Amino acid sequence: MYAIHHDPDRLVWAEATAPAGPGHQEVRLRVAWAGVNRADLMQRAGQYPPPAGASATLGLEVSGTVVAIGEGVTGLAVGQPVCALLAGGGYAEEVVVDARQVLPVPAGLGLREAAALPEVFATAWLNLFMEGALAPGERVLLHAGASGVGTAAIQLCQAFAHPCFVTAGSVAKLTACRELGADAGWNRHDGSFVESVKAWGGADMILDPVGASYLADNQKVLNADGRLVVIGLMGGRQAELDLGRLLMKRQRVIGSTLRTHPPAAKGEILEALRVHVWPRLVSGELAPLVDRTWPIAEAEAAHDHVRRDANVGKVLLEVGGKP
Ligand SMILES: NC(=O)c1ccc[n+]([C@@H]2O[C@H](COP(=O)([O-])OP(=O)(O)OC[C@H]3O[C@@H](n4cnc5c(N)ncnc54)[C@H](OP(=O)(O)O)[C@@H]3O)[C@@H](O)[C@H]2O)c1
Repeated sequence: MYAIHHDPDRLVWAEATAPAGPGHQEVRLRVAWAGVNRADLMQRAGQYPPPAGASATLGLEVSGTVVAIGEGVTGLAVGQPVCALLAGGGYAEEVVVDARQVLPVPAGLGLREAAALPEVFATAWLNLFMEGALAPGERVLLHAGASGVGTAAIQLCQAFAHPCFVTAGSVAKLTACRELGADAGWNRHDGSFVESVKAWGGADMILDPVGASYLADNQKVLNADGRLVVIGLMGGRQAELDLGRLLMKRQRVIGSTLRTHPPAAKGEILEALRVHVWPRLVSGELAPLVDRTWPIAEAEAAHDHVRRDANVGKVLLEVGGKP
């Protein structure tokens, strides 16, 4: 098969050894589309190694067709169109994945749209509702609102009646966030978001992919009993925590990474998506937001686009798929 070989300077689409399997409880997929994630850029730069046992090839999510089924798999059939959450290996013609990390393509969506679902909806669901434990009506602050994760999280907040405030890097991105259901927003290039979020009513939960550079301001806008869920380090990894504020406001700081969860835990998250999110995708209440696509052989152009913060929603690579 072909796969992307990467180093910090180059992405090359070339012959590669196909993964072994499927073993017990695994399926083999012929990949149609692969999603691009910020993590892929970090991995090729050597800053985000794959977890033990995972493929060293880039790619955390795909859509495609089941071509072989391992022993013990139920509920999936050869020829079925599916999408999958991976620990790695998606930039390739074939992947082998634990069946618990596979979901059917929602009725009415194509393989193209389906590739935009697993990583961002699983991340948003895990951190809003499982780690962040949102209670009815609680208010959410989403940083990087126009990112892949942000555009999924805004829609989940809207669908589950949580007012949400976003930060993003341009007026056009803030407008896109509003159209998806955000209540209010702040351009991060206009200075601190603190006064604007406070005036809005503060946040009971913050989904934060920025980390160090936002820690102090996040603590200032986090309401009593609020949860700050840190999912990324785009603004650095070391900062000072105000323990006085933490104690007095009973704030909690939670670190979270989807990729390192074992298949059983990923399966629980995907099962929640199947129950709570898939019907809303079928009805059209929720929709993946695809920004741009490239053929996989042009993956470098796709990475450049993401690196320049140019995307609103998901960037996809066409591997072998029809729409
Ligand atoms: N822990 C997990 O399980 C997990 C899972 C998935 C993703 N993530 C993290 O979530 C974030 C979003 O991922 P994605 O793939 O959806 O990203 P993406 O689509 O590439 O969007 C990232 C956006 O973040 C904003 N940004 C970049 N540098 C920033 C900085 N220094 N400070 C504030 N904002 C900055 C930019 O938007 P603006 O122009 O609007 O500022 C950029 O377009 C990443 O940090 C990723 O690592 C974590």
